Amino acid sequence: MTKNIAVIRGDGIGPEIVREAIAVLDRVADRFGHTFAYTDVDMGGCAIDKYGEPLPASELQKCLDSDSVLLGAVGGNKWNSMPGHLRPEKGLLALRAGMGVYSNNRPAKIWPQLADASPLKKSIVDKGIDFIIVRELIGGIYFGEHKTEETDGQKTAIDVLTYSESEIERIGRIGFETARKRRKQLCSVEKSNVLDSSRLWKTVMHRLAEEYPDVTLTDMLVDNCAMQIVKDPSQFDVIVTENMFGDILSDEASMITGSIGMIPSSSLGQTSCGLYEPIHGSAPDIAGTDTANPIGTILAAAMMLRFSFDMAAEADCIEAAVSAVLDAGYRTADIMAEGCQKIGCSECGRLICEAIAK
Ligand code: IPM
Ligand code: MG
Repeated sequence: MTKNIAVIRGDGIGPEIVREAIAVLDRVADRFGHTFAYTDVDMGGCAIDKYGEPLPASELQKCLDSDSVLLGAVGGNKWNSMPGHLRPEKGLLALRAGMGVYSNNRPAKIWPQLADASPLKKSIVDKGIDFIIVRELIGGIYFGEHKTEETDGQKTAIDVLTYSESEIERIGRIGFETARKRRKQLCSVEKSNVLDSSRLWKTVMHRLAEEYPDVTLTDMLVDNCAMQIVKDPSQFDVIVTENMFGDILSDEASMITGSIGMIPSSSLGQTSCGLYEPIHGSAPDIAGTDTANPIGTILAAAMMLRFSFDMAAEADCIEAAVSAVLDAGYRTADIMAEGCQKIGCSECGRLICEAIAK
């Protein structure tokens, strides 16, 4: 098969981790007889420097013309003082909206080799951590109006949170469908004791539940959910939630599995053209030092093969290679443990490629 992949290396550690993910994809292409062609796309801080805006229309078009998009990370201190609409993060939000990828899937699964890297007690980890956060990705407060007004010398900042029934319904369906393929437990997370948007969210989820009698739906307030994720993560199978809550809870969920550097994500809409990225940021403090963990991005590439290209065996092969490298005791700095061998980003990528070739 031939596939065209748009590649956004981005800022900070982005280029280093994407380089390793591409090496892995090339190795898979060799082994399975595919051709992956790559088109470089500028988005984020590097696009601001080059074009004066974080996502020029021409760059978005390259993504829309591709079979799928692989993204490293964007952002950095250099652009922190830019106005809101000219920040690297705005490019990422515009890309997600432009591609219409409303459904973001973030797995929180403990790798047995990394059980010691979890900050949770062994007795909690041993009950098992294997859940998915389905995050609504192109609505809510991140996409509402943002403004700062000044009256009588005092500033007031406003961010608007809106959800329509249809926006909730389409992500709700993804939540139910995802649960249906797993342990059939769906937990809808909101703040319905305070927010109107959450009350509508809850109503729509319960309406949908009638169409999925095989799935058990529960409701949880987001503050309680944040607590339950550290108290007993084994209770969760699939969590479905709105954009900002999903952003926050998915960072928390990644940490209990050992490191945010390990977690990939997929974002899909109506078509098979998806956006695949690790959930961590651009970590400018370690950029260029060859210490980043490329596994989140490499696993994102595996998700691309599985969900957009229907290449399950190829995706399994990447995941098995990651597992083999961890089994052999190799660790990047973020997951380093006693008795293991510390490796850098490029060595980690090389070892995973080597494991695929076998
Ligand atoms: C994420 C990130 C982004 C988000 C930022 C960089 C805009 O935190 O993918 O979780 O909030 O969605
Ligand atoms: Mg985030």
